[in-house]
Amino acid sequence: MQSFYGKTAVVTGAASGIGRAIAKRCAQYDMRVVLADIDQSALNKTENDLRSVGADVLAILTDVSKPDDVGTLAQKTLDHFGNVHLLFNNAGVATGSTIWDSTLDDWKWVVGVNMWGVIHGLRVFVPIMIDQDTECHIVNTASVVGLLDKFSSSSYQVTKHAVVAISEQLYHSLVEMKSKVKASVLCPGWVRTRILDANRNHPTVNQDILYKDQDLKGDLESGVPPEIVAEHVFRAIHQDKFYILVNADEYKPLIRMRMENILEESNPTESDK
Ligand SMILES: NC(=O)c1ccc[n+]([C@@H]2O[C@H](COP(=O)([O-])OP(=O)(O)OC[C@H]3O[C@@H](n4cnc5c(N)ncnc54)[C@H](O)[C@@H]3O)[C@@H](O)[C@H]2O)c1
Repeated sequence: MQSFYGKTAVVTGAASGIGRAIAKRCAQYDMRVVLADIDQSALNKTENDLRSVGADVLAILTDVSKPDDVGTLAQKTLDHFGNVHLLFNNAGVATGSTIWDSTLDDWKWVVGVNMWGVIHGLRVFVPIMIDQDTECHIVNTASVVGLLDKFSSSSYQVTKHAVVAISEQLYHSLVEMKSKVKASVLCPGWVRTRILDANRNHPTVNQDILYKDQDLKGDLESGVPPEIVAEHVFRAIHQDKFYILVNADEYKPLIRMRMENILEESNPTESDK
């Protein structure tokens, strides 16, 4: 995409962290921004902040795990702005531990938001973008964890692998039909956001399994600020780049090792990451 000026962007998980930084960058490019989030007060704050710097912004309370909410998000976007050019399927949550220790509620929540949220976004917005027949771009937020074979939260890792696979499918389908809609997958390493405090939005449980993990907290604090991620994302959209790896260099040997193990049919390598 060569120019962002005047385009309409929909950002899910826009009230915090990476989504909020992407939304702010959209406003800096004089784009029209639709903020979608499940957290009403954080959404109001983000809307007010963007409006105070003159952004053309619409905030819509949305639970991305609910198909009807995502349908309403698209309808309200079209009613208000008349079009949509950029979609950031970014909302995400994390909790739980091993496959068997994570509760069924945790699995349903993490899969609902991280995987189904992306699927609902694509099922609703891709046909609109194709019919519109203008230059469009979709960025799905996965994680570097979606390229690795080990992470402390199993449900999180499973959904991030799914988002990488969904995005690759999307990419190939769009290329095959020579569509003007392009796609990318965002795979960052650690980013300084509220992701380890994701249980604040958990519908049934008020626990902080990950947040209490001091190792992970330290990793998070060593991460990059979300504004850096937003900068990389817009550069990638401009260059029509599919895989967007930010702050992920230290994980690349592990990604390579996983690929080599698969090709050589060796067992996964032990690692402390
Ligand atoms: N922070 C990191 O280190 C990191 C690394 C790699 C990938 N990611 C991914 O980046 C994305 C953004 O997370 P973040 O790090 O900015 O965390 P964050 O917690 O700061 O922001 C996530 C936002 O998503 C919203 N949200 C949660 N459930 C929702 C739902 N059902 N519907 C709509 N919105 C919902 C939250 O209210 C919040 O505003 C996630 O997909 C996350 O998995 C984060």
